[in-house]
Amino acid sequence: MVGKSRWTCLKLPESVSIRAGSIDDLQAVYRLNQQVFDQGWSVEALYSALESGYDLIICEKDAMLAGYLLSLSVLDEIQIMQIAVAKACRRQGLAAAMTAFLLDQAEEMASVTLEVRVSNHAAHELYASLGFEEVGLRKKYYPPDAAGRCEDALLMSKNIQ
Ligand SMILES: CC(C)(COP(=O)(O)OP(=O)(O)OC[C@H]1O[C@@H](n2cnc3c(N)ncnc32)[C@H](O)[C@@H]1OP(=O)(O)O)[C@@H](O)C(=O)NCCC(=O)NCCS
Repeated sequence: MVGKSRWTCLKLPESVSIRAGSIDDLQAVYRLNQQVFDQGWSVEALYSALESGYDLIICEKDAMLAGYLLSLSVLDEIQIMQIAVAKACRRQGLAAAMTAFLLDQAEEMASVTLEVRVSNHAAHELYASLGFEEVGLRKKYYPPDAAGRCEDALLMSKNIQ
């Protein structure tokens, strides 16, 4: 690992690239957001997140958006707000690579935290595989679904110092 970043050490195909995103990426991000999440963000909410200081990481495969990671840094803590990978591109290490890219930019930070739905097995396994630990439970954290149920969130965290 000496002299190499974590994410470039991952075995990704040459067709995959990861980079910092910008407002220019938001229409494509919005489309993926709508495909992936039941309660996605509006395009306005995504724009206002970037304008208010959120960071965006973009993963492209064959020059098309394959995934993104949206995070917010507050003091010495990074919060992962959203991570999404297109269905056709899953289980190829892209979410793990975007998270490693995020950690590479975060040398001065102390921890990375996130909330994940208790039912979201894939995301829970992703974060557990990256060394995140469960540190709390937020009861009825998410807005009500069609049946009026508010799901709990697991709070997960990883120390990075
Ligand atoms: C969660 C999500 C981002 C994972 O993306 P991904 O690119 O497929 O994940 P990776 O390929 O990097 O997986 C890395 C590891 O995470 C775990 N993992 C990922 N998806 C998994 C699944 N469906 N079931 C079990 N483990 C899983 C595995 O340990 C995997 O390693 P392996 O493939 O060698 O076994 C993707 O499924 C997704 O976009 N889901 C919908 C959006 C979402 O729920 N986001 C999280 C909440 S914001």
